[in-house]
Amino acid sequence: MSDHSTLLASFQIHTFQTKLLSWYQTSGRKNLPWRILAKKADTSNQDSISSALKENPNIPYLVYISEIMLQQTQVSTVLPYFQKFITQFPTLEHLANAEEKDVLALWSGLGYYSRARNLLKTAKICAKECQKQNIPITLPSQREALKKLSGIGEYSSGAIACFGFGINESFWDGNIKRILSRLFAIPIASKSQLNFLSYKLLNHINAYEHNQALLDLGSLICKKLPYCNLCPLNSMCQGKNSPTSYDIRPKKNYTEVSLHLLLPYQNNYFALFKDKRYGLLYTPLEIGCEIKDSGKIFYNHQNCDYKKLKKLGIFKHTRTHYKITATVYQPNNENLSIFKNVIGFDTLEWVDNQAPLSALAQKSLLLFNQQNPKASATITSKNRG
Ligand code: ADE
Repeated sequence: MSDHSTLLASFQIHTFQTKLLSWYQTSGRKNLPWRILAKKADTSNQDSISSALKENPNIPYLVYISEIMLQQTQVSTVLPYFQKFITQFPTLEHLANAEEKDVLALWSGLGYYSRARNLLKTAKICAKECQKQNIPITLPSQREALKKLSGIGEYSSGAIACFGFGINESFWDGNIKRILSRLFAIPIASKSQLNFLSYKLLNHINAYEHNQALLDLGSLICKKLPYCNLCPLNSMCQGKNSPTSYDIRPKKNYTEVSLHLLLPYQNNYFALFKDKRYGLLYTPLEIGCEIKDSGKIFYNHQNCDYKKLKKLGIFKHTRTHYKITATVYQPNNENLSIFKNVIGFDTLEWVDNQAPLSALAQKSLLLFNQQNPKASATITSKNRG
């Protein structure tokens, strides 16, 4: 590790830790459903942690699911998905025995579907390994072993080891990076600076609450536009007079795309195809695609006169690198075969709204419901069973 010790020259680590923990005691989100270890143990006591984990060996699995869901996704979005997921797959063993389509169905709408595929892959690998050793199916507790598993990187391995197994590990995500960058007035912090600072600042008496407190401080106070007057670290923060000058990121470059989507409908069923790009979720046929400012126009279906099709509406959608404006059309089903050259046409299936749907399909169905309130009422009552 390079020498970053000047950063800490006059910094009072103990005062920092005390202020952070006392803020967490009064203002932390202690009731999040994945913060279970702290409910079962005194997280400042290793013996208490060990006996809680013996009695509740499923805790690391629940933390694992939450941490993967929380990657690039906000707590409020994750909460209902987490509850549904752990109800259907309550243990790592249940997950290891699952089929990919069922895992993807539960993930439908959360995005970044490789996370769901990696969850399943990792569960199966752990199950195989544990069965070989004739031990109960669990995740490894050590960070290095966790990091070898699909979908578990530097941050997640630290978070699972700390929040799931009560091990003193330091780590940082986007929220912690923002706090550290401001605290030490670093405009663009390097990985090595962030590793150094998070490691040196770690509170070894209660690493669990220290790390949860940092995550909460980043989401609740030290936000992009921060509430510095409410911050417990205000008096120590070198960036407080110009917080937005720190943790500067290069502006993300999105490509703007117009998509033309087809949504055939008949008697409560929609014709969709399983798209490999979205982890085999059902998605509408793309009959046209225009990439703005590139001069490129891709048409899956040549010479389609969109104006002749019944338009259901338009929605916006953002993907990692794309800002999409999608126009959805409801075609005349008798003439569907005119789209037979469109990629995916061969695998069209009539499915109802309970099928695992891509985000594009979900938003398209939402437009359908708005335009067809009578039909959508029958679909809903049918599916309530
Ligand atoms: N983001 C990532 N991990 C989290 C956690 N354990 N609690 C709240 N937000 C998080």
